[in-house]
Amino acid sequence: MPLVPLSLIALDGPSGVGKSTAARRVAQQLDWQYLDTGAMYRATALALHRANVAFADREGLKRVLASLRIEQRGTRSFLNGEDVSEAIRTPEVTQLVTPVSADARVREVLVEQQRAIGASGGWVVDGRDIGTVVFPNPCCKIFLTASAEARAQRRFLEMQTKGSTLTFDEILTDQQRRDHADSTRAVAPLKKAEDAVALDSTSMTLDQVVAWIVEHHRRHG
Ligand code: DC
Repeated sequence: MPLVPLSLIALDGPSGVGKSTAARRVAQQLDWQYLDTGAMYRATALALHRANVAFADREGLKRVLASLRIEQRGTRSFLNGEDVSEAIRTPEVTQLVTPVSADARVREVLVEQQRAIGASGGWVVDGRDIGTVVFPNPCCKIFLTASAEARAQRRFLEMQTKGSTLTFDEILTDQQRRDHADSTRAVAPLKKAEDAVALDSTSMTLDQVVAWIVEHHRRHG
């Protein structure tokens, strides 16, 4: 049966490419809503960590997943009613989320929630598998890339404004770890959907990326 076309923008790409900032701004311009699926995986990693549940503990994992209530209101993320926007961005959660997001049982639960949210249309959704797995339906799909150095450099500058002492090399090494894990995992690896258009933002500003996506959507939406 052919999949129903959706009024949705699926924005996939590697870590640090600026997907969330671009997606949020595109959503504002179109008067659409924005769904940050990475935040959902991060909130799940935090919930498992807090419940002290290991993957080997099948029952524990099932219990945490069954009680998981993740919401996004504006720019804030909530886990079972608690604002966890800062807690999900710590280096610890950034490490923990890699194995959590590679787990098929976790993905099954979160993908179902993402589909339920996006089915109404009018969403900009960013992640790694949005155009390939979550919404294989015909819709506006963009695979955003930038060179590893450009991504690490942007992250380095952003972290410096937050008072971080991490070096450029440390940031690049961590990014390489995440790129490798995301693109080689067995379940829903990071890859461009066949019907997605690739946008290399290495030498583009954020404003240019946002304008490009809005224009692409208007022409081919
Ligand atoms: O985009 P981010 O760094 O906030 O994502 C957090 C983690 O979740 C990262 O390890 C990739 C993973 N992720 C995923 O596997 N699938 C998605 N749709 C979104 C994020």
